[in-house]
Amino acid sequence: MSLTVRPVVGRRAKISALGTYVPPDVITNKDLEKLVDTNDQWIMERTGIKERHVLAKGLGVSEICVEAAKKCLATRGIEASEIECIIVGTVTPDMMFPSTACLVQDKLGAKGAWGFDVSAGCSGFVFALQAGVKMVESGAHKMVLVCGADANTRMTDYTDRATCVLFGDGGGAVLIEPAEEGEIGFIDFVHEVDGSGGVSLNLKGGGSLNPATHETVDQKMHFIHQDGAAVFKFAVRKMAETTTKLLERNGVTGADLGCFIPHQANKRIITATADRLGMAPERVIINIEKYGNTSGGTIPLAMETAVEEGKLKKGDLVLLAAVGAGFTVGAALLRWEI
Ligand SMILES: CC(C)(COP(=O)(O)OP(=O)(O)OC[C@H]1O[C@@H](n2cnc3c(N)ncnc32)[C@H](O)[C@@H]1OP(=O)(O)O)[C@@H](O)C(=O)NCCC(=O)NCCS
Repeated sequence: MSLTVRPVVGRRAKISALGTYVPPDVITNKDLEKLVDTNDQWIMERTGIKERHVLAKGLGVSEICVEAAKKCLATRGIEASEIECIIVGTVTPDMMFPSTACLVQDKLGAKGAWGFDVSAGCSGFVFALQAGVKMVESGAHKMVLVCGADANTRMTDYTDRATCVLFGDGGGAVLIEPAEEGEIGFIDFVHEVDGSGGVSLNLKGGGSLNPATHETVDQKMHFIHQDGAAVFKFAVRKMAETTTKLLERNGVTGADLGCFIPHQANKRIITATADRLGMAPERVIINIEKYGNTSGGTIPLAMETAVEEGKLKKGDLVLLAAVGAGFTVGAALLRWEI
């Protein structure tokens, strides 16, 4: 390995704690067989998904963020009042406004924090992560909570077999703090957007262009609309391109990574990317079988899986990558310091 650790303006930043949350209720492939013309074999072969979690009625995505954040605070042994900023990557906010970050701030009792949401589809967590990291590196803040979570089942049409099998609810949170002497933490990010891809994956109803009316509801504009094949093609190409660029410009190869933690949209997208990177399958984190696509939530949930499976340890180089609605593309390279 010839990793050249890029200097940062200011100080280095690291992840100092991780917490995740999935709601207890589950929809299995068998349950979906009763709703639409599908079957467990098709879903497993084409997506790798077996089941997904569903947030109970009466709750919003802020609930997922708060539960995950509480775990971060407990493992780090700090009070909510020590958080200085809260950034939430989500496309399924509790409501149009106030932002989910404001709701999380209030529910957590993070009295001194400000915050905002980042809307970047399934890249929401990695985009939010860069914002939080730069705040710490610049010296603006020394304790930032970054959440990635979505309640996708709320926006899912359970009469459309092409989308309803894919999505689930859940997410996680990390604390970003200054790295200690000898630690490296965050190394580099590559992010991109291609707005021409917006036609292939969107939710048109309820915004200022198409405010909610009986007509928008009749036309199902409050549900996720997706051209699956177009998203699939873009995701396979861009996940590989972006991760290769990020590794190359930092003098790292797939063989140098402790593990690769990709967004969990489709198992076939993950394995195609991992093959391009030359990653051994056992170092590619896949938990899509249990959770489906939780959009902004997949990467923190996969970090938790990696830690639980003993594949993510202090000092390991880790690559994160996501593609989402927009289109958005995000990748991060870091050294795990917990
Ligand atoms: C959605 C996705 C799983 C569909 O898989 P696919 O292999 O491309 O399947 P196709 O869309 O080509 O459909 C193949 C056939 O399966 C059918 N099919 C679609 N969903 C089905 C389901 N749940 N069960 C059974 N059959 C299904 C289609 O109707 C089609 O039938 P036809 O050939 O008779 O028309 C895949 O395109 C995908 O994962 N796309 C990316 C999704 C994504 O990443 N989204 C989030 C972005 S972050």
